[in-house]
Amino acid sequence: MTARILVQNSLKFGNSLRNASTLSAFEIQHKTPLVKKQTSIPVALYGGRHAVTMLPGSGIGPELMTYVKNVFRYAGAPVDFQIVDIDPKSDDKKELEYAITSIRRNGVAIKGNIETKSESAEVRSRNVAIRNELDLFVNVLHCKSFPGVPARQKDIDIMIIRQNTEGEYAMLEHESVCGVVESMKVVTHSNSERVARWAFDYAKRMGRKKVTTIHKANIMKLSDGLFLETSRRIAKEYPDIEHNDMIIDNCCMQLVSKPHQFDVMIMTNLYGSIVSNVVCGLIGGAGLLCGKNYGDHYAIFEPGTRNTGTAIAGKNIANPVAMLNAAVAMLEHLGHTKHAKLIENAIIQTICHDNIRTQDIGGTNSSTDVVQAIIDHILQADVRPW
Ligand code: NAI
Repeated sequence: MTARILVQNSLKFGNSLRNASTLSAFEIQHKTPLVKKQTSIPVALYGGRHAVTMLPGSGIGPELMTYVKNVFRYAGAPVDFQIVDIDPKSDDKKELEYAITSIRRNGVAIKGNIETKSESAEVRSRNVAIRNELDLFVNVLHCKSFPGVPARQKDIDIMIIRQNTEGEYAMLEHESVCGVVESMKVVTHSNSERVARWAFDYAKRMGRKKVTTIHKANIMKLSDGLFLETSRRIAKEYPDIEHNDMIIDNCCMQLVSKPHQFDVMIMTNLYGSIVSNVVCGLIGGAGLLCGKNYGDHYAIFEPGTRNTGTAIAGKNIANPVAMLNAAVAMLEHLGHTKHAKLIENAIIQTICHDNIRTQDIGGTNSSTDVVQAIIDHILQADVRPW
């Protein structure tokens, strides 16, 4: 009941947001705090080449980015990278500001995970700060099995769509009285609606049959209740797509035992991280899938599980495929579909058919063996796209 009142209130507020286009610039700036005040600019394109921000991040990030640059050179991908290094040990805000400015200018970025070494509550995660600053409200992980790659479950094809900027990642924690720490989970009507709409629009466009909302509304009746009620309301606008919901605990069990029941899934931020890691584990681990972060104006591509892989850095054993798949998704986003297909085919040929694989997916090859095999396939391709 309370959740319903909340939804109704936020619906009223939602209506005022929808009228924002009729407001003056002054009113938008000063009276509508939730209206995003960014104007859309086209992605950077100079002389037919796109400029893209590259954030190598920590751990295996820098070596994976070297592979991306090499593969792009051989594939002739018309992309110039603007590299911004962020030191994980430094709390200097300038580097973060350079990174955000660069992404604003270019519109698109590819990124490794930026570790935050400091345990001080004052120092916020740079990954979260970038996603929030750029309003990248949705994270999309297409979990599709790679035929032939050893995995706990086969023939998976699940789309995980995750709210990416609020929920449990609000980073609003405080010690109310000595020994009692409170952490706020923030769920807003507007972001829940944007994520639900993104998921149903995607399902409709791609001919998907079912959307499942994952929640814990039995316990978090207001926050997850709002997320669930919003997705139920949006579902009514898509009568051809089945909608159901599942509690996060059961969802994890169902994913491990009967994953083929899932088609498109939507969830809040932390459940999204956990479920993404579970499904990546079922398919073959952290080294395969890419994650896409979208907002209204910007996009960032990265490995799906966002790990740093610090323990395997510099050993020539990290799987290069997740970051290369992120690069493929980035090329598709920029409209370079032929280059994207060329690299994607070379990856599939290498890991699925030639069985050239790193140890994490049951192979014996090094990272550079895999990259070299991918480059060889690109060079042998009959039709080179440039
Ligand atoms: P981790 O970096 O230790 O990676 C987990 C496992 O996956 C390790 O066994 C690692 O060797 C393996 N792995 C990762 N990438 C691989 C690749 N390309 N090829 C082969 N194996 C690979 O993960 P952990 O401990 O979860 O996180 C380390 C850092 O990443 C922390 O700073 C954490 O905050 C950050 N992080 C992790 C996320 C996650 O979903 N696990 C999400 C966001 C940040």
